[in-house]
Parts: sequence; structure tokens; C-alpha cells
Amino acid sequence: MTLAFGINGANVTHNLPFSQACENNKGPILDKLANIFSAPGLVLEIGTGTGQHAVHFAGHLPHLTWQPSDHPQNYQLCLPRIRQAGLANLYQPRQLDVRQSDWDLPDTVDGVYSANTAHIMSWPEVERMFEGVAGIVSPGSAFCLYGPFRYDGQHTSASNLNFDQHLRSQNPSMGIRDMIDLIALADRCQLSLDEDIEMPANNRMTVWRRQS
Ligand SMILES: C[S@@+](CC[C@H](N)C(=O)[O-])C[C@H]1O[C@@H](n2cnc3c(N)ncnc32)[C@H](O)[C@@H]1O
Repeated sequence: MTLAFGINGANVTHNLPFSQACENNKGPILDKLANIFSAPGLVLEIGTGTGQHAVHFAGHLPHLTWQPSDHPQNYQLCLPRIRQAGLANLYQPRQLDVRQSDWDLPDTVDGVYSANTAHIMSWPEVERMFEGVAGIVSPGSAFCLYGPFRYDGQHTSASNLNFDQHLRSQNPSMGIRDMIDLIALADRCQLSLDEDIEMPANNRMTVWRRQS
């Protein structure tokens, strides 16, 4: 993991950490989450970053309770935005490094969401994320993992290829993950790929569900 790079493109705007990518993608992602997380429950977000997604989704999906979390070195980033939002269904962020053996979550988790994390985490961290998710969700519950992915070694666009090369030049442990590897990993964790949805800007919304 490269935490110096951790918040991809984040700047500070109006005294709040801000990502233009989050601003662009939060609407299309919300449209999908409204269907996937249609039942009331607690959703854990892994790698919350600036908190723009957390505030937007909690504000528009009041039947959910949203639990942001991030690596201990980054979890404060979303604090001011979450405090400012003052939403009753948006919890204070928790410190969560997916490598922790105990994720130390207080409530039953009904679903998990994570955006743009799999290509920033090292592969062993991605493995820990899937193993950890599988350990906290019940059968049928969804794990929504958003971001760019490869298929059979192929990128879905030239811009994703450039992005992947940029990531790997910054740190060889980062890089756009291949769905073949993710599906094999998920299978070892009793998770199955339920949906793989095309999203704007060459991203995907992948939905993994815990097998019974
Ligand atoms: C590119 S940012 C994405 C932030 C936000 N989800 C978004 O879409 O803009 C990657 C995030 O992954 C988090 N992250 C990296 N390694 C992690 C780890 N081992 N455990 C938990 N979060 C991690 C970083 O702290 C950062 O918030």
C-alpha cells in the first residue's frame, strides 16, 4: 500500500478534502447502490477517503446506516465532511486496516462497499479485504467493489492501461486487478460474483455475494 498516493487526486476545497472523481461518479454509483442495498441495514465502507461518497449515499439512502472506515493513517480525512453533514444515519469513521486480524466492528454488517481501493492496495491486502468481508457478512449479503478492472489481462480502455502503468511505476505493489484473479480469490472466500456492471469512465461496479 502507498498511503502517500492513497487518496487518488484528492485536493482540499472549501476546507474539505475533495476528489473530482468522487464528485463525478457518486451519482451513477448511487443509482446502482439504491437497488443493491434496497433493504434497511448497516453498510460498512472500506477506504472511505474524502467522505464524499459516504455523505452522498447516506443522505440519499436513509433506510441505510452507513459506517465509513479507512486505514488508521487516512481515516481522519473524511471526519470534517461527515461532521458537517450531521446525518443521523452516518456514523463516525472507524479505523480499519484490512490487514487487521480482528476488524473489530460493533454491529452486524448487512453489506460492504469499497471504491477505488483494489488497485491501491497490494495484492495481499486485497486478499485480506475479501477474507475479512467474507467473515463479517451473512449469506446473500452484497460486497460492492467499484473501480477499474482488467479481463484476461486486457484493459478495457487505453486510459486504464496508462493509469495501471502509472500506478505500477509509483509502486509495483499497486495496479489494476484482473477479474480472473478476483474471482479465484472470492471463490476461496466463499464469495461469488453476482453482477459486473459497466459504469462511466471505464469503471465497473462488481457485486460479490457470500455463498451459503
Ligand atoms: C484511491 S483512495 C479511494 C478513496 C475513495 N473510496 C474514493 O473512491 O475516492 C484508496 C483508499 O484505500 C485506502 N486503503 C489503502 N490501503 C488500505 C488498507 N490496508 N486498509 C484500509 N484501507 C486502505 C486508502 O486509505 C484510501 O482511502
